[in-house]
Amino acid sequence: MKNIRGAFGPDAFRRDDETSDEDFYRQPRFVTHIDDGAIGAVTQLYRDYFPAGGRVLDLMSSWVSHLPPELSYREVVGLGLNEAELRRNPRLSRFVVHNLNTSSRLPFADHSFDAAGITVSIDYLTDPVAVLRDLGRVLVPGGPVVISFSNRCFPSKAVNIWHRLDDRGHLALVQAYLEEAGTWQDILALDRSPRVGGRRTGDPLYAVIGHATG
Ligand SMILES: C[S@@+](CC[C@H](N)C(=O)[O-])C[C@H]1O[C@@H](n2cnc3c(N)ncnc32)[C@H](O)[C@@H]1O
Repeated sequence: MKNIRGAFGPDAFRRDDETSDEDFYRQPRFVTHIDDGAIGAVTQLYRDYFPAGGRVLDLMSSWVSHLPPELSYREVVGLGLNEAELRRNPRLSRFVVHNLNTSSRLPFADHSFDAAGITVSIDYLTDPVAVLRDLGRVLVPGGPVVISFSNRCFPSKAVNIWHRLDDRGHLALVQAYLEEAGTWQDILALDRSPRVGGRRTGDPLYAVIGHATG
């Protein structure tokens, strides 16, 4: 899929609620957005892909980062919209409040992180390709991004295209975001939904992984 905006039409990246994201996220939400099994799957992805001791960027962060509790990192930087949530996040070394839908340029130097995660949030970006393009700049060459999501969202703030697609469609779409961004290679899509005896239990968990070209 090339030129996603062209393929899906002009309304694809609009939302039902086009009021400011700052207003929507002004109230802290000290909740988890997926169940414990799905959180465990995110944590395992970070165990698999993030270098222990590295510099980690938690993009669209809140009061929890889902990083493996047994591992430490040189620094973990959070970027999100709610200061109270970010302040309470015990894994963050520091944080910035920054609206990615008004500025896709990340407030970080080139190659300043070894890995990045975007957890259950990619559906809120109105220009995900631009954000992911710039994310490729701030990671070291080869640094992984883990973009994970389930089948839940704040409906009024998710972009229209997210509502038009099913889980498989979301995987293909996020993969296409990374391809179009042009700063990623070795892109793969995974279904890491928790299962018992082959049967899915609880919230599903999907992820798209890419590695920065540098
Ligand atoms: C569903 S929560 C997920 C939070 C966290 N990543 C987690 O795993 O629990 C969505 C997050 O995206 C952030 N967010 C939403 N819109 C944003 C925007 N325009 N710019 C930056 N962050 C945004 C919010 O601050 C919020 O923390």
